Amino acid sequence: MSLKIKKALIPAAGLGTRFLPITKAVPKPMLSVLDKPTIQYIAEELISVDIEDIIIVVSPGSEVIGKHFGPAEALEARLLSDGKKKLYDIERETQRFNVKFVVQKVANGLAGAILCAEKYIKNEPFALLLGDELMYASGKEKPCMKRLTEIYEMTGKSVIATMEVFGDDISKYGNLGIGGEKDGYFEVTEIKEKPSVNEALSNYALVGRYVLSGDIMSKLKKLKPRNNEIYLTDALDEVAKKGGLLAAPFEGIRYDVGDKFGYIRANVEFALRSKEIGEDTREYIKQLAEKL
Ligand code: G1P
Repeated sequence: MSLKIKKALIPAAGLGTRFLPITKAVPKPMLSVLDKPTIQYIAEELISVDIEDIIIVVSPGSEVIGKHFGPAEALEARLLSDGKKKLYDIERETQRFNVKFVVQKVANGLAGAILCAEKYIKNEPFALLLGDELMYASGKEKPCMKRLTEIYEMTGKSVIATMEVFGDDISKYGNLGIGGEKDGYFEVTEIKEKPSVNEALSNYALVGRYVLSGDIMSKLKKLKPRNNEIYLTDALDEVAKKGGLLAAPFEGIRYDVGDKFGYIRANVEFALRSKEIGEDTREYIKQLAEKL
């Protein structure tokens, strides 16, 4: 079977209750960082690996996400007739992906979301990008998805992104048992989902970017629910214990946009990097900091 990754899955069906009231009428993936919804940043992470076929798992009532990635003839005609070619190009960028949507009717965990997309994924390898996280890489850094797909194509083994975390933060993430290292990536021997600090296997946390081999689907189907959810981590633990899972630290910055502080941090840092308002933002933050 070909080791080329052609499809990506983005589970983004969370109700975003932490962001109420905005998430009452606006689906969480449409919350904007600067001028772009978070879901578009995540789709754009796939450009570096030439993946255009994207499946987004959404909660009921998220039709506006389809509208965002779909055609907008009247708007385009207007932008062109007004001579606003730059804005026209910005709008056209939203249509470069081939997006399919699957509605997750029952909130039964990450593994449940992945199984909703089985008819599109079948038993092919796929990229998995969790909707609450943005991964930023500067021009000098290798994008996280590029690194993961390279390792998958080299080894044929599933690969996850990882970062080091310390103290109480350890309990917020899937936690990795670490084996031998080679070329900057290592074997995963075991995974525990959100262990207590005392039970942690290492300081390595599972970040929400994965490349998974197609046989994960059959493993997910066999999982037993815990607290009414089925956990991808349980299936990955099984793969790890058989020697089939690798982990790679990523270059760049991870933003947890499912969290209010992480969301503000993303907005501030993207604003600082913006050609349009970066300078003004920098000046403003300096002046503000003097008053704090
Ligand atoms: C999920 C995964 C966890 C991973 C985390 C990364 O947890 O279950 O293993 O470390 O994403 O953000 P969640 O944050 O959805 O509870």
